[in-house]
Amino acid sequence: MFTPKEVKRILFTEDEISRYVNSLGERLTCDYSEKNPLFVCVLKGACVFFSDLIRRVECPLEIAFLSAESYCGTQSTGEVELSFDKLPEISGRYVVLVEDIVDTARTLSLVKEKLAARNPASIKVCCLLDKPSRRVVSGFTADYTGVEIDDLFVVGYGLDYDQRFRNLPYIGILEEP
Ligand code: XMP
Ligand code: MG
Repeated sequence: MFTPKEVKRILFTEDEISRYVNSLGERLTCDYSEKNPLFVCVLKGACVFFSDLIRRVECPLEIAFLSAESYCGTQSTGEVELSFDKLPEISGRYVVLVEDIVDTARTLSLVKEKLAARNPASIKVCCLLDKPSRRVVSGFTADYTGVEIDDLFVVGYGLDYDQRFRNLPYIGILEEP
């Protein structure tokens, strides 16, 4: 298995990740079976999770993409750059925002606010990982969470450190640089 030296230890194996993804898929299938939801992937980090998740949702759905960047290395810059170029009309749609990890929650609260102005029927958030101890936007919670983690910087399964490690099939803890 490809294990870069910067990865201190594995936090979640491929099997563990797929159990979390399956369980989220089951919940979303129940909640959205009659709604033709629009699943929106928050690039880039959510791309791997997103592609697995949508194949576990067993009802009609459509997909779309937006991009959000806020991290530099292991530090959140506090400023979020958003791009909605690839987003279709969402008025009246049931939107599910799919994110890799909720940390300070600055990214998702801003994305939710911008999308809410476009009059969707509803906007819910689905994340694989949540670090509640790092919250800056108080009271922000995801509607669907795979698993909560401590304040650790994690990589793999789409998550990066300066654009590296996204291709690891597991989620690992990064050695402090
Ligand atoms: P906020 O702070 O806005 O951040 O909730 C969400 C985005 O920050 C990135 N992030 C991480 N990326 N390992 C990563 O590779 C981490 O431990 C981590 N914590 C936050 C991620 O892009 C997320 O979408
Ligand atoms: Mg992300």
